[in-house]
Amino acid sequence: MTQSRYFTISEHPEGLPERSLFQLETQELPELQEGEVRVRNHWLSVDPYMRGRMSGVKTYVEPFELNKPMQGGALGEVIESRHHTLKQGDRVIHMGGWRDVAQLDGDQVQPLPDIDVPPQAFLGVLGMPGMTSWAGLTLVAELKSTDTVLISAASGAVGSLAAQLAHQKGCTVIGSAGSQEKREWLEARGIKAVDHHQSVDDIRKALKEAAPQGVDVYYENVGGPMLEAALDVMNDFGRIAVCGMISRYNEASPSAGPANIAAVLTKRLRMQGFIVHEWVKGHEQEFYRQVSPLVADGRIEYRETVEEGLERTPDAFLALFEGSNQGKMLVKLD
Ligand SMILES: NC(=O)c1ccc[n+]([C@@H]2O[C@H](COP(=O)([O-])OP(=O)(O)OC[C@H]3O[C@@H](n4cnc5c(N)ncnc54)[C@H](OP(=O)(O)O)[C@@H]3O)[C@@H](O)[C@H]2O)c1
Repeated sequence: MTQSRYFTISEHPEGLPERSLFQLETQELPELQEGEVRVRNHWLSVDPYMRGRMSGVKTYVEPFELNKPMQGGALGEVIESRHHTLKQGDRVIHMGGWRDVAQLDGDQVQPLPDIDVPPQAFLGVLGMPGMTSWAGLTLVAELKSTDTVLISAASGAVGSLAAQLAHQKGCTVIGSAGSQEKREWLEARGIKAVDHHQSVDDIRKALKEAAPQGVDVYYENVGGPMLEAALDVMNDFGRIAVCGMISRYNEASPSAGPANIAAVLTKRLRMQGFIVHEWVKGHEQEFYRQVSPLVADGRIEYRETVEEGLERTPDAFLALFEGSNQGKMLVKLD
């Protein structure tokens, strides 16, 4: 008999979830069915979008079911298989996260690409967040080397790759980040850094100093005061790729939008929201071809913040909203 330890929530949180929302449960896994695999997870991903799944409302993804194992990106090793291609020992990526042992339909499990990087990179810079950075810049914003680019949460999993890709393309890049250490990391990579923990007026002033020529592309990860300040510094016909709005994910009720939203009209801006899997579909090989050599030889630097042990998964998740992660937030299991 194999046991699985997994996290559940038993109610939909309002505002920033409390640590006590998350319960660690144990179950005996049922016998493996034809086509299924059992995977021992070694790395779990926690991501801001999971907050939306806790609200009980269907958005572009189904909400988590109360009292059922939560889900999320995970990386592990097949320990038992009744699937026609997957075998014991295969390293795989799948959505059976928030638990130590997952039992899944083998068709929902992907073998790791054959690229020589530490495996957990496939949950970060070469995984969903990396694809999001690349797709948002290349396919949604249609980035050109002459663009001035602003990226919010620029030292996070998505933002740090977006900032480096834009810089390597020859763009002038400005990134916002919430701590001195994060801003120094950005500056050391040729990215002008702005603190977002200030008033809209002060952010606007800092952006005007960093980009006196104005901004052509805003890669939006946070919403709130950053979006309002960004709208003021956008150039005519600028493009805003709306990847995320983390400042709003814990709002108990919706707050007002940016006061200057009319800039979308007066500056003839294109503002487009996007969800990674819809844009990257069919482009996965192009993404790996372009980005993996840069990661493998160190031209793209990626950072990880690692919590140790399954029990720490909710803490790792909640830390995303405090900005205590540098680069990709991960949980390492034994
Ligand atoms: N559209 C898609 O398909 C897609 C896919 C993946 C991710 N996303 C979105 O992309 C964004 C970044 O995700 P990620 O996984 O790379 O996370 P991340 O940037 O690694 O971590 C979140 C960061 O957001 C910043 N933050 C937290 N609360 C904030 C607030 N109230 N105001 C401003 N900044 C705040 C913090 O950095 P500071 O220290 O700088 O404050 C924190 O480190 C999120 O909005 C996420 O939902 C979208």
